Amino acid sequence: MKVSVVSRSGKDVVKGGLELSDSATVADLQEAIHQRTKKFYPSRQRLTLPLKPGSKEKPVVLNYKKSLKDYCDGNHLTVVFKDLGTQVSYRTLFFFEYLGPLLLYPIFYYFPVYQFFGYKGERVIHPVQTYALYYWCFHYFKRIMETFFVHRFSHATSPLSNVFRNCAYYWTFGSYIAYYVNHPLYTPVSDLQMKIGFGFGVLCQICNFYCHILLRNLRSPDGNGGYQIPHGFLFNIVTCANYTTEIYQWLGFNIATQTVAGYVFLVVATLIMTNWALAKHRRLKKLFDGKDGRPKYPRRWVIFPPFL
Ligand SMILES: NC(=O)c1ccc[n+]([C@@H]2O[C@H](COP(=O)([O-])OP(=O)(O)OC[C@H]3O[C@@H](n4cnc5c(N)ncnc54)[C@H](OP(=O)(O)O)[C@@H]3O)[C@@H](O)[C@H]2O)c1
Repeated sequence: MKVSVVSRSGKDVVKGGLELSDSATVADLQEAIHQRTKKFYPSRQRLTLPLKPGSKEKPVVLNYKKSLKDYCDGNHLTVVFKDLGTQVSYRTLFFFEYLGPLLLYPIFYYFPVYQFFGYKGERVIHPVQTYALYYWCFHYFKRIMETFFVHRFSHATSPLSNVFRNCAYYWTFGSYIAYYVNHPLYTPVSDLQMKIGFGFGVLCQICNFYCHILLRNLRSPDGNGGYQIPHGFLFNIVTCANYTTEIYQWLGFNIATQTVAGYVFLVVATLIMTNWALAKHRRLKKLFDGKDGRPKYPRRWVIFPPFL
């Protein structure tokens, strides 16, 4: 079979096209493109079917598992190639974004950084600041461990640019919150409020971990299995029980530490996770539409507080 690989503007990406066997898959085509141009390894390639001129539809993305024959009738196929840029594994992306807050936060607790901001006096450390340090470090350590030992990702890689974007988000917020919670002029909340906040937060972190175990069990160890209907525990009520418990564990941290910086992060993180949860809920409803023998996605809240 003859395959022409063109850019979106119609230029030849692989000069003269490629000749592949009739039983070749999209993965074989990606490998053949890689052989011709070394820098375009398979996860860097996005292959789609060409659109008719003036069409406003979304192009069909080629599935690497499918046969090329599934995408054409005759013996010639034209595919549109897009370079996704340098890729990194999801584990690398998550590791670096969580490593920042894990290392930066203790710097504000242990080192005399406030002297550089003009505070010369002796710094008294309140118990809540020590517990906040433990809580914070436990949270990010847990997320790194989950990244390596719990999550079963379906996407192999992410663009390198996401590492910089995500690190900017986590590292900046981590430093911003650490600065205020460990500040020499920090005023602690009452003992009772601190206990309620951390107690509730730890409970939510345990629930969040359990939600991640339930998500893990939806896929086989090699990450196959696609998207399934999450069920059990809080997933019987909300589609994104993991985001819900994540939001509430930050609320617990904020009840205990009470800083504007912490609440700003809570609002931003809630907006981001709600947006993602809406997309995940829509995807599951589309996948499980009750037609052609597919199960129907049960009626659930997207996230709690409810957005339907
Ligand atoms: N503080 C913040 O700003 C913030 C923001 C986002 C996340 N987080 C925390 O980080 C955690 C991980 O985030 P995430 O966005 O990666 O979570 P996620 O997409 O909901 O899921 C975690 C893992 O479960 C898989 N999964 C999700 N739904 C599934 C389904 N229906 N069927 C089969 N597998 C499914 C995902 O697969 P895929 O690889 O296919 O996605 C991923 O590997 C969150 O739960 C939360 O605790 C915090």
